[in-house]
Amino acid sequence: MRKTIIAGNWKMYKNISEAIELSNGLKRELFKLDFESTEVVLCPPFTALAEVAEVLSESDIGLGGQDMYWAEEGAFTGEISANMLKDAGCQYVIIGHSERRQFFAESNETVNKKIKAAIKCELTPIVCVGENLQEREQNKTFNVIEDHIKQALVDIDAQQMQKIVVAYEPVWAIGTGKTATPEQAQEVHKYIRDLLKKMYGEDVAQGVRIQYGGSVKPENILELMAKPDVDGALVGGASLKIDAFAAIVIKSSEVRK
Ligand code: PGA
Repeated sequence: MRKTIIAGNWKMYKNISEAIELSNGLKRELFKLDFESTEVVLCPPFTALAEVAEVLSESDIGLGGQDMYWAEEGAFTGEISANMLKDAGCQYVIIGHSERRQFFAESNETVNKKIKAAIKCELTPIVCVGENLQEREQNKTFNVIEDHIKQALVDIDAQQMQKIVVAYEPVWAIGTGKTATPEQAQEVHKYIRDLLKKMYGEDVAQGVRIQYGGSVKPENILELMAKPDVDGALVGGASLKIDAFAAIVIKSSEVRK
């Protein structure tokens, strides 16, 4: 059985004091959660990582960065390495988010380099893939997903694959209030799992967690989680509010598959 994983991507929101307040509130609300069956990850902006790590130090809630650079160190103004994320208290890192692809020239090739550097540093990469509206309307969804997955995973072996979390995030559903229907999500999640099966075999494919992301809210999490290949969620907007994110986590933890 795959362990549910719910991650909150705070994007460019929350200053340090707001981040402390939000993480403290979540720690309190999720105090009784069964962390054996549900993994929870918060991904604040870089500036708040160390403080949120401090808040989470005596809890089972994990911490992640929203991006990283692949080099170990060097003259790369403005960038953050995997080691720096570890040093700030992270165990996870989001890689290849569609906003990085859209606004900051992230490519499948850079995603691949970042995944390798993250694994080398023992960070769990949450690798985002997904089609935009035009691609969906032109029936290219599976082609885009195949491209994102295959190119992101160049030279990643089966053992490394077991450490990776995949997030399917249809770009047209991010921040738009338009969620993919549970059927649309399941269709692509299954496609991803079948692809991983061809690349890495049945055992690895069955073990990889695939999150859904795009306008996830307390109102739609249950129907999404009910689908067999949806193993969790990557939550943007709703992760900025204590009540909404705690409700998403608690509802997900109650889904038994
Ligand atoms: P959203 O964002 O939940 O606000 O749609 C999801 C994401 O970008 O990870």
